[in-house]
Amino acid sequence: MMVFRQAKWDEPVLFELGGSSKQTFAVDDEFSGEAEEALSKAPRHVLRSVEPGIPNLSEVEVVRHFTRLSQMSYGVDLGPVPLGSCTMKYNPKVSEELASDRRIVDLHPYQDVDSVQGVLEIMYLMQKWLSEITGMDECSLQPPAGAAGEFVGALIIKKYHLDKGNTGKVEMIVPEAAHGSNPASSAMAGFKVVKIPTAPDGETDIEALKAVLSDSTAGLMLTNPNTLGIFESKIVEISDLLHGRDALMYYDGANLNGILGLVRPGDMGFDIIHLNLHKTFSAPHGGGGPGAGAVCVKSGLKEYLPVPIVDFDGRKYVFRYDLSRTVGRISWFYGNVVPIVKSFIYIATLGPSLREVAELSVLNTNYLMRKLAGLRGVSLAYGEGRWRKHEFVVSFEKLLKETGVSAEDVAKALLDRGFHAPTIYFPLIVKEAHMIEVTESESKENIDALANAYKEVVDLAYSSPELVKSSPTNTSVGRLDVLTANHPKTLAPTYRYVEKLKDEGP
Ligand SMILES: Cc1ncc(COP(=O)(O)O)c(C=O)c1O
Repeated sequence: MMVFRQAKWDEPVLFELGGSSKQTFAVDDEFSGEAEEALSKAPRHVLRSVEPGIPNLSEVEVVRHFTRLSQMSYGVDLGPVPLGSCTMKYNPKVSEELASDRRIVDLHPYQDVDSVQGVLEIMYLMQKWLSEITGMDECSLQPPAGAAGEFVGALIIKKYHLDKGNTGKVEMIVPEAAHGSNPASSAMAGFKVVKIPTAPDGETDIEALKAVLSDSTAGLMLTNPNTLGIFESKIVEISDLLHGRDALMYYDGANLNGILGLVRPGDMGFDIIHLNLHKTFSAPHGGGGPGAGAVCVKSGLKEYLPVPIVDFDGRKYVFRYDLSRTVGRISWFYGNVVPIVKSFIYIATLGPSLREVAELSVLNTNYLMRKLAGLRGVSLAYGEGRWRKHEFVVSFEKLLKETGVSAEDVAKALLDRGFHAPTIYFPLIVKEAHMIEVTESESKENIDALANAYKEVVDLAYSSPELVKSSPTNTSVGRLDVLTANHPKTLAPTYRYVEKLKDEGP
């Protein structure tokens, strides 16, 4: 087994690296007069009155700082990231390279449309391709993330019912196993969230669904395959039930990877969907983005899409802002264009082979699942004997009872063995959960290595549990106090906030 040792730098933040006397770059004497003259001609109101609050660093210091930081981080270019529900697939370098072209990255949103016809064509084609791939009729590329797409979907559902005068449609049904962003988006849009359980076969409990369906139901948010990786086989019946109550079907497309090119949400009866281009379509996904959460709808809901969408007037590509029922903007300008371009390249490169993505990811999932489900202390959650699609969920409840080693301990011990941890403690309906998704990117060798690492950790839990519980020891950062690391009062997203926390003291 490969040994993993991560670098450990005591790296200060950039602001602490800077020194006031550093020479960052020099303007040749010959030009310094010109610079001053240019400055003297600049309008007064655009001139700074105080120096910018940024550190004074030389290029080499900046490069070394970020190189050291990169040595302390882990990403999909270093090894497998089996984060269930996140579809952390390899990001092909050809997409990265083409999308870094200056003709893409130097574009300005205020440029005249005549000067950006190329990128508009890409966006137009993406709207068409995503519609075709999903069985929908029109897409907007505005939302910057999946959750933003969900929020748009919930707003569309709300406006659709209000337009029909159905003011009593106030409830959104969301399965208990859903991603937290589903109930959050529904609640943000003003809906009362109604939860429904999962049946023992791992599918939505249809009797429970029937019991909560009423004239107050505005819609249902569902992902298929669901978060257990199980395909909802009664999806058409579910859609019919909802439509029978004039309620809309919303598809959370985060799990599309398992059915890509094989089944289409539009054919399952969904009215509105979002897609995570940063998952299924391989735009990078780590570090909070930028992502792209395209929203697509059936023809009857086209006018509700966020604006602008890109259209072709027979002569040139144009932005359209005139959708009569639009829910408005969800982000600045035109969405996150660079990930859209990366996904465009991904789809164009694979063409009809896109379906192999799903076939291979399903094969990889089930291969690993069979290996892990047989380990001591590990059990498969829900749907005994059923195939999974893009991911599966195992429980370490038995291991915890028998050894005191928790799902979190196992995840930490995987880090020491050179693997990113899977998603843990989600979905909430599974105790001591690991949600695992290896995607189509991983080879059999890598999957075997991950399975061996799991086996080694589980065996160690029975022989020397304290060794598992003291992991990780090979990583640059050990166990964090998760409460402090996540609490809004102590989580420090910016350097200024760090300074504020320091001023406030413990
Ligand atoms: C099932 C599911 N739905 C929605 C989302 C939200 O997507 P995003 O992180 O792009 O906002 C996620 C993200 O992990 C997810 O797994």
